[in-house]
Amino acid sequence: MANDRRPEDMVRITTPELADAFIEEQIAALKEQIKDKKVLLALSGGVDSSVVAAMLIKAIGQQLVCVHVNHGLLRKGEPEQVIEVFQNQMKANLIYVDATDRFLDKLAGVEDPETKRKIIGGEFIEVFAEEARKLDGIEFLAQGTIWPDILESEAGIKAHHNAGGLPEDMTFELVEPVKILFKDEVRIVGERLGLPANMVYRQPFPGPGLGVRCPGAITRDRLEAVRESDAILREEFAKNGLEGKVWQYFTVVPDFKSTGVKDGKRTFDWPCIIRAINTTDVMEVTVEHLSDELIDHLVSRITKEVPGINRVLFDYTPKPPATVEYE
Ligand code: XMP
Repeated sequence: MANDRRPEDMVRITTPELADAFIEEQIAALKEQIKDKKVLLALSGGVDSSVVAAMLIKAIGQQLVCVHVNHGLLRKGEPEQVIEVFQNQMKANLIYVDATDRFLDKLAGVEDPETKRKIIGGEFIEVFAEEARKLDGIEFLAQGTIWPDILESEAGIKAHHNAGGLPEDMTFELVEPVKILFKDEVRIVGERLGLPANMVYRQPFPGPGLGVRCPGAITRDRLEAVRESDAILREEFAKNGLEGKVWQYFTVVPDFKSTGVKDGKRTFDWPCIIRAINTTDVMEVTVEHLSDELIDHLVSRITKEVPGINRVLFDYTPKPPATVEYE
């Protein structure tokens, strides 16, 4: 495909006009590369894969097959939004796989963070490969590789996060339509392709999802407490004008209990930890200090509305010494 590397003199895409010109150029190149063949895409609902999906839907329509694997560790409303945007609105060819039980059964009783990550990553590839094998005539695999991914893998900072992992007998030609773009450019291009703002400007979310925010062995009830408290936090940040301003914010529900009292009765429930941070490069992060009023409101909502929570804590620790995520 043309434009394999970002040209040194490429103008940063900062305006709708520049984004539209890029889209037009890429669509022509995609049509030329793919012709009448079929393309497969793992659509997580994250920024990069969503923009790639929207671009390919424009370029080749039904020749694109999107697979959305719900590993049960997504945030509240995420799988529903993927179905609404891509299947209902953009009329994409979308295969939705609810693999929640499969993932949670495999993770049951597993405490070690690295083992949890390996199980989630490995199972993801397996589910995706199973779906791919059911399809005929797929020649291309689309990926949301972006320019920093290429720079980081060249610098040896991280292994190329894409392409890796599929069984050896599954070989596809790669389609990577945003691989010369920086993240801010991907977002503008996504907006011009008609994706909702809350999809293209969303905060970073780790591949292992809520699994790393449910430390230790994941149980369904504690995972639900993470999901529900996260949904409340996101709703309140949006209402208070903090969405898009704070880099990342989420909740963690650790596996220990403390006593409390509710409706005159003793409780023995989990605490919910709120983490809200700012950074530019995620190597060093600072803590976003919330107003007392907002903290009081969050404590009240989370303890009232989330089953299993009787206490709310706020994490004031920068990175270093703490990492952003708990596992
Ligand atoms: P840490 O916890 O390392 O996180 O300070 C830095 C940033 O990376 C995100 N993160 C991940 N993203 N897969 C991802 O795609 C992962 O396994 C993963 N672990 C951490 C984290 O949310 C933060 O933005």
